[in-house]
Amino acid sequence: MKAIIFGPPGSGKGTYASRLQMKLDIDTVSTGDIFRQIMKTDSPLGKKVKTYVEGGLLVPDDIVIDIIKKRLSEIPLGKGFILDGFPRTLEQAKALEKVAYIDVVLLLLVPDWIIIERLSSRRICRDCGAVYNVRYLKPKVDMVCDKCGGTLYQRSDDTSEVIKRRIEVYEEQTQPIMEHFKGKKIPFVVSNCEALDTPPEIVVEQMLKELRKLKLA
Ligand code: AP5
Repeated sequence: MKAIIFGPPGSGKGTYASRLQMKLDIDTVSTGDIFRQIMKTDSPLGKKVKTYVEGGLLVPDDIVIDIIKKRLSEIPLGKGFILDGFPRTLEQAKALEKVAYIDVVLLLLVPDWIIIERLSSRRICRDCGAVYNVRYLKPKVDMVCDKCGGTLYQRSDDTSEVIKRRIEVYEEQTQPIMEHFKGKKIPFVVSNCEALDTPPEIVVEQMLKELRKLKLA
């Protein structure tokens, strides 16, 4: 299965993609994770990327497209993948079409109030990148990763001002590319989130049920 998981900031893309990866033995490619790794380096590219990410703005297309092409070329032929956070502009969507055929779009519909609530309480493992929530998906030990024992931290773009900007950028620049996918007749699996306390496992099971109908799981 070659899929795009698509939705606003904090809609659960990373949370669901990591669970689907384990269940389906596929790869996940998260441009956000790639940029956070690049930002850790003191390189000119790291500094440049940081100004966009911390401002809640999109990293320029030329940088994103170069990085994703390289990352996709590393996936073994025939292995499935989920793209998390890519494409985010029409130019990125067109660049993707030149290098990969997409079977399905996993669309997450989540109201703004849930996004704001989830992002302000999100924590990430500094070592393995696992995602937690201090209110809704707590680690067993406070601020310690269940998977690797790493320390949890709050992302620098999870402040209320930057969250607001990211939602605006999604609505203005990213959401419109949905029409492009629809025009390409790519099947959609839609998850409609209306409550804060639906466990991710339930959402993932519903996705898998729909993917089985499409013979993709
Ligand atoms: P990116 O990292 O992709 O950020 P995002 O799209 O804003 O999405 P998030 O990672 O914030 O959220 P998510 O949907 O993965 O939700 P999560 O699973 O964590 O990108 C960051 C930045 O990089 C961008 O702003 C941009 O600057 C740049 N960038 C990246 N890609 C780019 C591109 N293609 N082009 C240009 N620039 C790009 O879940 C959120 C929280 O909710 C967590 O705490 C989680 O535990 C909790 N949660 C989720 N689901 C549930 C549930 N069912 N029950 C309880 N809690 C839940």
